[in-house]
Order: sequence, then structure tokens, then C-alpha cells
Amino acid sequence: MAILPLFVLLLPLALASAPAGPWDAFNYAPESRTVWPTAIKYTEGSVQNAQNLVSNAGEATLSGNGTWLTLDFGGEVGGLVSFNVESVSSSSSLALSYTESPLFISPFTSDDSSYPSANMSYDGVLPLPQPVPTGYYTQPAKSLRGGFRYLTIVLNSSPNATTGSSAEVTISNVSCAISFAPHVDNLRDYAGYFYAKDNEFWDEDFLTKVWYSGAYTVQTNTVALNTGREVPFVASPGWANNATLGIAGPIIVDGAKRDRAVWPGDMGIAVPTQFVSTNDLLPTRNALSTMFSAIDPRTGALPESGPPLSQTGSDTYHAWTMIGSYNYVMYSGDMEWLEGVWANYTKAAAFLEGKVIDVDVNGTQLALMNVTGLRDWARLGGGGINSEGNALLYRVLVTASELATYMNDTTHSAAWSQNATALKTAFNAAFWDPTQGLYLDNTTTTLCPQDANSMAVLFNITTSPEQAQSVSEGLQRNWNALGPVPPELPDTISPFISGLELQAHFVSGNDAVAMDLLRREWGYMLYTNISVESTLLEGFTANGSLSYRSYRGYNYDPSYTSHSHGWSSGPTSALTFYVLGLIITSPQGQTWSVAPHLSGLTAAEGGFETGLGWFGAKWSLEGGVLTIDVEVPVGTEGTVTLPVEGKVEVNGTQVAVGESGTLSVGGGTSTVVVTTAT
Ligand SMILES: *[C@@H]1O[C@H](CO)[C@@H](O)[C@H](O)[C@H]1NC(C)=O
Ligand SMILES: *[C@@H]1O[C@H](CO)[C@@H](O)[C@H](O)[C@H]1NC(C)=O
Ligand SMILES: *[C@@H]1O[C@H](CO)[C@@H](O)[C@H](O)[C@H]1NC(C)=O
Ligand SMILES: *[C@@H]1O[C@H](CO)[C@@H](O)[C@H](O)[C@H]1NC(C)=O
Ligand SMILES: *[C@@H]1O[C@H](CO)[C@@H](O)[C@H](O)[C@H]1NC(C)=O
Ligand SMILES: *[C@@H]1O[C@H](CO)[C@@H](O)[C@H](O)[C@H]1NC(C)=O
Ligand SMILES: *[C@@H]1O[C@H](CO)[C@@H](O)[C@H](O)[C@H]1NC(C)=O
Ligand SMILES: *[C@@H]1O[C@H](CO)[C@@H](O)[C@H](O)[C@H]1NC(C)=O
Ligand SMILES: *[C@@H]1O[C@H](CO)[C@@H](O)[C@H](O)[C@H]1NC(C)=O
Ligand SMILES: *[C@@H]1O[C@H](CO)[C@@H](O)[C@H](O)[C@H]1NC(C)=O
Ligand SMILES: *[C@@H]1O[C@H](CO)[C@@H](O)[C@H](O)[C@H]1NC(C)=O
Ligand SMILES: *[C@@H]1O[C@H](CO)[C@@H](O)[C@H](O)[C@H]1NC(C)=O
Repeated sequence: MAILPLFVLLLPLALASAPAGPWDAFNYAPESRTVWPTAIKYTEGSVQNAQNLVSNAGEATLSGNGTWLTLDFGGEVGGLVSFNVESVSSSSSLALSYTESPLFISPFTSDDSSYPSANMSYDGVLPLPQPVPTGYYTQPAKSLRGGFRYLTIVLNSSPNATTGSSAEVTISNVSCAISFAPHVDNLRDYAGYFYAKDNEFWDEDFLTKVWYSGAYTVQTNTVALNTGREVPFVASPGWANNATLGIAGPIIVDGAKRDRAVWPGDMGIAVPTQFVSTNDLLPTRNALSTMFSAIDPRTGALPESGPPLSQTGSDTYHAWTMIGSYNYVMYSGDMEWLEGVWANYTKAAAFLEGKVIDVDVNGTQLALMNVTGLRDWARLGGGGINSEGNALLYRVLVTASELATYMNDTTHSAAWSQNATALKTAFNAAFWDPTQGLYLDNTTTTLCPQDANSMAVLFNITTSPEQAQSVSEGLQRNWNALGPVPPELPDTISPFISGLELQAHFVSGNDAVAMDLLRREWGYMLYTNISVESTLLEGFTANGSLSYRSYRGYNYDPSYTSHSHGWSSGPTSALTFYVLGLIITSPQGQTWSVAPHLSGLTAAEGGFETGLGWFGAKWSLEGGVLTIDVEVPVGTEGTVTLPVEGKVEVNGTQVAVGESGTLSVGGGTSTVVVTTAT
């Protein structure tokens, strides 16, 4: 590369804002760090003036044993609940219960977050002290609920009550102090934006909404260091979110309600979302540093999850930490961080390379990784000479080679690049099944998994556009009305793996297929009234129920499912990187590319920020004329790839474009106009 990168080493905390516009109406983040209920969901028993609790309008009175009311915060929130106890009878006891889904509203229990239990009541309620004190009450910090939409306040007669005395409480000012993104003053002040109308969906603002939904989901997963789920889990009934999550905070975790721990696989989707929306990468740096600091010095193995879970034995999540390091360096340009972890990073690479063995596949000797650290995203199988593990290793080697060039480590760079090339050949020889037109899960099965096939296209392990096309077509055979049902985790829909599949369809040029997937799966998640209609579900079953992973670790407890999981936010970066088509190709966007995928739309606009400044794009197609406006920092260089043919003008001057449809464009503001021959 001819350009010397000018890396900005500091990670600014206060970031400039994206341009204001109609897209701001779809930002789900609250205006203030304190939020009040927006509606009364239910009342049961005698509740007077319940409506007063909406937006803090006044007092409400609950009377009688077993009376309760449920407040709706209008969308996903998380934090500590406070309210005024104006007056309370001595025979009263009070308790709080919380839930994300309205299906689990109950005066007896919250949805589960500590542990999945078939009785769906592991967590129970949070009792207030007895006797109930009058005045301003705030729930204890350790009983923080990181994610909920509905809060139920329950009045009971205290066990001490004497016959004849009655329970009664008057409360006001019920609020939640938002706990997530603790370092951010204005939660709505995003660094990036996206806007497009979808005329093929019943809600034309769907794409914009889903972009902001993913962004808000990741914000709710950005937490203070000492607010992790306590492990071992507290005894039932109860929960505690006072555990330390790593070596520094704020830190990015997998989910708002749970697990509230660092999970590098989840970050594979969540961090690109974070980059294009808030560009708040400090929580990612802290999470990655936490993983590297916990490397096994003897073997070079990275943990599967951050503390206090600190699970080990996952070759795929080990790979995701390494891939995540590349993403972080690309987005931030933080070479100082890379230098700091480089010794451990190379050890971690050697750990995976050490699992590569020579195997005989139908008479041919092939060098492939034997996956022995079996923990993964919940899929079944996955061990041995497995395609998903090897696809991730390929991505590790390609990205490691590039990182090594930034480190001037030419020896590693060359060796990893060479091994990546060899692995790509071995992968295709071992796993490609021409009959099914898909990659196999391993060398002894006919099962073609959603994960490895999506990754093969996304990571460019396919060897031709025709092969990528075949995979894109084959993957659609897993689809039902709500999305793909992975053969490797039957009866389940995984928005995490679907986020990879979504990108694979765009990469293979099947934009209409990608849009179809987006509308099916995220159209379901965003609007279904069994979820929170704001942030994105961790997963669901093939028929749309919340019993995600019931038979695979979640003990048939649908209330345990998280409704705000960053790994489900794939559309946010996909809309920016593919539909808008704006992507960076070197750290901080010193080089970049604009390659719009028109996807049946007539216009899209958006952009993001890096340490070098603002990167924006805007395209529209009208009367056979495609106009692309690009605004990028002066001093950067990039390309514009045109999705249609025709007469091309750049800044009003006609230019010739080669067969690739790609133009070189410098920094600053450029307008490319293509007049198609209609
Ligand atoms: C629910 O099951 C858990 C064990 O999973 C148990 O500890 C708890 O007591 C049960 N709760 C109720 C209300 O039965
Ligand atoms: C209930 O009785 C116990 C034991 O006498 C006492 O400690 C507690 O304060 C009483 N609670 C109320 C609400 O009066
Ligand atoms: C309040 O109602 C509960 C549940 O019906 C009951 O178990 C309890 O005894 C009642 N309390 C009093 C003081 O009557
Ligand atoms: C968190 O709270 C639990 C439950 O009260 C307690 O057992 C634990 O010691 C606390 N942990 C920390 C790190 O403070
Ligand atoms: C590198 O690994 C060692 C353990 O071998 C650990 O003590 C150290 O903190 C790690 N350094 C970084 C920067 O992650
Ligand atoms: C992969 O490693 C496992 C565990 O060490 C071993 O049992 C298995 O035979 C290995 N697979 C191959 C193909 O060598
Ligand atoms: C090969 O893949 C199949 C299907 O996923 C799985 O059932 C089997 O356990 C895998 N084999 C090994 C050795 O892991
Ligand atoms: C790599 O080499 C370049 C050019 O000599 C230098 O500017 C840069 O600081 C070096 N990077 C590292 C990590 O040593
Ligand atoms: C590249 O692959 C060879 C053969 O598997 C292995 O011996 C070598 O260690 C690998 N190189 C690196 C840098 O991982
Ligand atoms: C090995 O060969 C058999 C018979 O030709 C074929 O069915 C099978 O798919 C091949 N296996 C792999 C992993 O290529
Ligand atoms: C994908 O791999 C092919 C070789 O199989 C290579 O020619 C092409 O440049 C790669 N594409 C990208 C985007 O790296
Ligand atoms: C278009 O004009 C702007 C402003 O004069 C300039 O910054 C930009 O580099 C030009 N683009 C091209 C491709 O010449």
C-alpha cells in the first residue's frame, strides 16, 4: 500500500455527532439517563390513580393484600428503580418484579436471569425492607436489573399484620436510572446514522428502525465494570449483578439482562454495530484486553468468556477474540494496544495452529484444524475436522497476517498468509459437497451447517462467484417464514448466525435474498409483541416462541432468553457496509470503498466516524440516474464501485470506467452520477 497510515492513537471519549435528520426520530435511546413509565400495562386489585405514575404525574395508591400494578417503560431499559413511598400502612409489604417480555409479567417472579429453570421462577421478586420505609427508595445496587421493559409493584399484607388491619401504600415518582453506557452523558448522541425507505415492507421505516434497534441493543450491552452477573449464581429466589467483569470498564457484554459477561463470539457482530453507530470503542478495548490478560500462559489458550464466568475450552471463541482484535484495530487504529497484546496474540495464534493436523480425506492428505475445544454458540457437534472451526481459523490467519504488517512482523505476516492460502485449498477439498452445493460440517457427515457456509462466503473461502452463489442458494433451503433454521441446532432460529448469513447473501451479490432474510427474521423480532419492540432477541424457536435453546442448556425456561443481545444486531453494520456500501479497508479508513447494493431501494444515506473524521455516503436512483455523494476526510483514498452501467460523471466531468465498474476517488466531497441507458 502506497499510503502511510496516520494513526491516531488516542481514543476520544467525547465523539462528534452525526448530522441531524429525520432518522433521529428512530433512535431508541432515551433522552435522559432517568426514565419514567410511559404506560400502565395492568392493574390487579384496588389501585387508585395508577395513570399518575406515567411520566411522573402524581401519586397512586394500592390497597389490599395481593394488589399489584405493572408499569411499561415503553421499550428496553435497565438500571436501578427508585420511587417515593408517600405513606404506607404498618401491615404492608412491597416487592418488585421485572421482565423483558410481557409474557412473564407476574406478581410472584421476575423473568429469569440468574439461572434457567423449568419453573420459570428462579429469580423471584425483589422484596423491599420491612417495615417498608417512607421516603425515597432506591433498590440496592447489587440487585440491578440490566434489562427489562415491565416493572411490577406488588403490595401484600405483611406476615406480621394483625387481623383486621389492611395493606395500603401511596407511591409516586417511579423511575429507572439507566445503568448502561455509564460513561455517556447523552445516550442519543450517535457518531453515525443510516436512513432508507423500504417500499417493499409494510413499515417503510423498517430498515432505519432496525439499524437503530441494533445500535441501541449494543448500548444496553455496554456496562460498568462492577455490574456483572454474580457467579456462582445466587440461590433462588434472587439475582445479583455486582460481579467484576474484567480488567477495566466500561465493558461490552453479551446481553442487557444476561449473561452480562464478555463473550468474544457475540462481539463478532456487536462491535461492527458499535463502530458504525456510536464509535464508542473503549468498551471493546477493555473486553479484548480482559481476554488477553487471561490467556493460559502454558498453552496460549484464550478463555471462552470473561470473568466471572471465565469459561474455557472453545476453539471458536478463541478465534473470535483474535478476529475481534483485527476489527478493533481497523476501527480504532489503536496500534499502541496492538503492540501491548502482540506477544500474547502470537501465542494465541500458535495455539490454534498447533491444532492443525494432517488428515486423510478420501485418500488425500490435508492439513486442517482438529477442533478439540468444543464450546461454541450453542450449536450441536462442532468437534474434530469441522468446517466452522476451520473457517474461523482461516479468518484468523488472513487478519493476523494483515495485523503483522502493521507490527512490521514480516516473518509472521508471510507465514500466516501462506498458511491461510493452504487452508483455503484444504477446506475446499475436505468440505465442499458438489451434490448439495454447500460445505459439509465435517468429513463424516452429510449435514451442511448454516454457520460454516455463511462464514465461507463472508470470509472469501469460496473460490469463485459461482460457488458463493451456490452457497447463497443452498442456505435458503433452511428458511421458514421467520428465518433460517440451522441444521446444526434444530428447531431454533439464531440471529447471531443469521447476521453472518445476511452478510453472505450481500457478498454473493444476492441482495434481494439478503433483504428477504432481513425482513423475515428482524421484521419478526422488532415487531413481535412478545418481545420488547426496541432491542433484539438473543434467539427464538422455529415457530417464533421464546423457548430458544430449550433443549440445549436453557432447561426449557423461555423466560431466561435475553431480549437485548448485541449478537443479533447484524443488520446495523450490514445496512451501512453493504446497502449504503460504505466500508473502510485499512485502519481508521485511510483507505475506504463505496459499493452500494441497491437492493430494490431508491435511496439510502448514512455514515460513521473514525479518528480521521466523518465518512458519509448518500445515493439515490431516480429516472435511470444513480447519484452517489461521498464525503470522506481529505487525505484518505478510496474507490467507488458502481452497481449499474452507464455514462459516468465525477464532479460533473465525464470519466471512463473499466469493466470492474470501480473508480479511484480521493478524499473530500465527490459526486458520482451514472446515467443508465434506459
Ligand atoms: C425453581 O427451581 C429452582 C431450581 O431450578 C429452585 O431452586 C427454586 O426453588 C424453584 N422455585 C419455585 C418457586 O419453585
Ligand atoms: C415483624 O415482626 C418482626 C419480629 O417481631 C419484627 O422484627 C419486624 O420488624 C416486624 N415487621 C413489621 C413490618 O412490623
Ligand atoms: C395475603 O395473601 C396471601 C396470598 O393469598 C396469603 O397467603 C396471606 O396469608 C395473606 N396475608 C394476610 C395477612 O392475610
Ligand atoms: C454480590 O452480592 C452477592 C449477593 O448479596 C454477595 O454474595 C456477593 O458477595 C457480592 N459480590 C461482590 C463481588 O460484592
Ligand atoms: C499476556 O499474558 C500474560 C500471561 O501469560 C498476562 O499476565 C499478561 O497480562 C498478558 N498481557 C496482556 C497485555 O494481555
Ligand atoms: C482430534 O482430537 C481428538 C482429541 O484429542 C482425538 O480424539 C481425535 O482422534 C482427533 N481427530 C483426528 C482426525 O485426529
Ligand atoms: C460431524 O458432524 C455431525 C453433524 O453436525 C455431528 O453429528 C458429528 O458429531 C460430527 N463429528 C465429529 C467427529 O464431531
Ligand atoms: C513499523 O514501521 C514503520 C515504518 O518504519 C514505523 O513508522 C512504525 O512505527 C513501525 N511499527 C511498529 C509497531 O513498530
Ligand atoms: C504454518 O503451518 C505449518 C504447517 O501446519 C506450521 O508448521 C507452522 O507453524 C504454521 N506457521 C505459523 C506461523 O503458524
Ligand atoms: C468421500 O468420497 C465419498 C465417495 O466418493 C463421497 O461420498 C464423500 O462425500 C467424500 N467425502 C468428502 C469429505 O469429500
Ligand atoms: C477472494 O479470493 C480470491 C481467490 O480465491 C481472490 O482472487 C480475491 O481477491 C479474494 N477477494 C477478496 C475480496 O479478498
Ligand atoms: C470533487 O470535488 C471536490 C471538491 O472540489 C474534491 O474535494 C474531490 O476530490 C473531487 N473528487 C474527484 C473524484 O475528483
